[in-house]
Amino acid sequence: MKKGLFITFEGLDKVGKSTQVENLVKHLESKNLKVTLVREPGSTEISEKIRNILLDKENAGKISPLTELLLYNAARAQLVDDIIRPALERGEIVISDRFYDSTTAYQGYGRGLDIKLIHSVNMEATGNLVPDLTILMSVGPLNETINNHERFQSSSSDDRLERESLEFRERVRAGFLEIARQEADRFLVVDAEDTIENVAAKIAERVDQLLQTK
Ligand code: TMP
Repeated sequence: MKKGLFITFEGLDKVGKSTQVENLVKHLESKNLKVTLVREPGSTEISEKIRNILLDKENAGKISPLTELLLYNAARAQLVDDIIRPALERGEIVISDRFYDSTTAYQGYGRGLDIKLIHSVNMEATGNLVPDLTILMSVGPLNETINNHERFQSSSSDDRLERESLEFRERVRAGFLEIARQEADRFLVVDAEDTIENVAAKIAERVDQLLQTK
């Protein structure tokens, strides 16, 4: 039986997610609450090895979308079994920097894999473990201005990749919002472009409410 509280953070890369994860850990520890912090993919010996395969630059563009789906979920299954579920059973608060919504957003909305297939693999890998709260750090549409800016910074031979990457990230960004819209009760969507302090305060307020109703 799950007794603890499971909180996940989601959003595009480099939106300040890690800073807010750290802020929430400090907030909870200041209340003398026991927090277990993990990140995906990774956090167990096996999952970190899988992370190395997934994020190794040498493998960029070589891993098929289906392989990505299965590898992210292989890393996740090990993490849930080894760390997340035992910590929740001990009554702890578990915070995960990314969880299965990243797979739905990146491999589903981003790479175009079937969302129903992703949902069933996600659920199989986690044993139907649904977060109590998911904080989505959201940014506005990634428009041509950013594209021009990025192209300005990169060499011309990178143009096609830069554009592909921008379009991919825009699909992921919109995908996250769609997931949050479909499961509005589970999500807190915060504006990642707001100040660090304001974002931290909104997250702390929501988590405190959740702790009171637990
Ligand atoms: P991060 O540790 O910097 O968040 O990097 C993890 C990268 O992996 C990030 O680009 C998002 C990506 N990712 C997926 O594509 N699918 C997933 O299921 C997860 C957990 C991460």
